[in-house]
Amino acid sequence: MERLKKDKLPRHVAIIMDGNGRWAQKRLLNRVIGHEKGMDAVRRVVRNCREIGISYLTLYAFSNENWNRPSREVSALMILLERYLLKELPEMMENSVKLNAIGRIDLLPPSAQKTLQRCMKETENNNGMVLSLALSYGGRAEIIDGIHKIAGDIEKGRVKVEDITEELFSRYLYTDGMPDPDFLIRTSGEMRVSNFLLWQIAYAEIYVTDTLWPDFGEEDLINALIDFQKRERRFGLTGSQIANRR
Ligand code: IPE
Ligand code: IPE
Ligand code: MG
Repeated sequence: MERLKKDKLPRHVAIIMDGNGRWAQKRLLNRVIGHEKGMDAVRRVVRNCREIGISYLTLYAFSNENWNRPSREVSALMILLERYLLKELPEMMENSVKLNAIGRIDLLPPSAQKTLQRCMKETENNNGMVLSLALSYGGRAEIIDGIHKIAGDIEKGRVKVEDITEELFSRYLYTDGMPDPDFLIRTSGEMRVSNFLLWQIAYAEIYVTDTLWPDFGEEDLINALIDFQKRERRFGLTGSQIANRR
């Protein structure tokens, strides 16, 4: 941790937690065991990010497309989600972590929704770090949901078409009120974004590691952050423009 520059940390880290299935398959275990181990990695990364001083952590836990997996795997993931929330609630309170959920939450099983709502309510005044779980999440679905909402406001006369800007539209997304992720991590080596935060990652720095999610630990997180700190973020400017700003 001492190897990190405190003044150059990303504000918002987003993670595509991939590779639970492969972790299990390599060991000839059921994929669900991989998801269980993945949950331990979630616990670690939340703790580590909080300690390091990350303000927003967003974890891709379940995509819209993941509903098409075998129903046994889907049910196991929903049970694990509830188990995770109930087990972690005391630590979230202790570390002042505020829980948030993004996605089509109404599609989750009622009992998972209830537990999620309860944990969000209990942690709503915490101000240490915002932990967002992307559940039943799809980036395109989020944009479409945002369009529906803004179109509704236009119909009601609350918004004028000519007032639509990037800034205004952002407020109609699930991530309203959050800064865009400046750092996107994906585990398990796949070089794709899999429908995650499509709008918000416009200028995120991307880091892909071959480490499978259940094996992702503090050392991996620190290495990723060190890599982030070496990057020059240009936002379309030239290298010398950036140098002159400093
Ligand atoms: C990520 O691991 C967890 C979820 C998508 C829910 P995977 O289950 O996708 O693992 P692999 O990609 O099959 O190894
Ligand atoms: C992305 O992983 C979704 C989550 C991590 C929850 P997937 O395993 O579903 O993505 P693909 O299928 O490799 O693109
Ligand atoms: Mg996968």
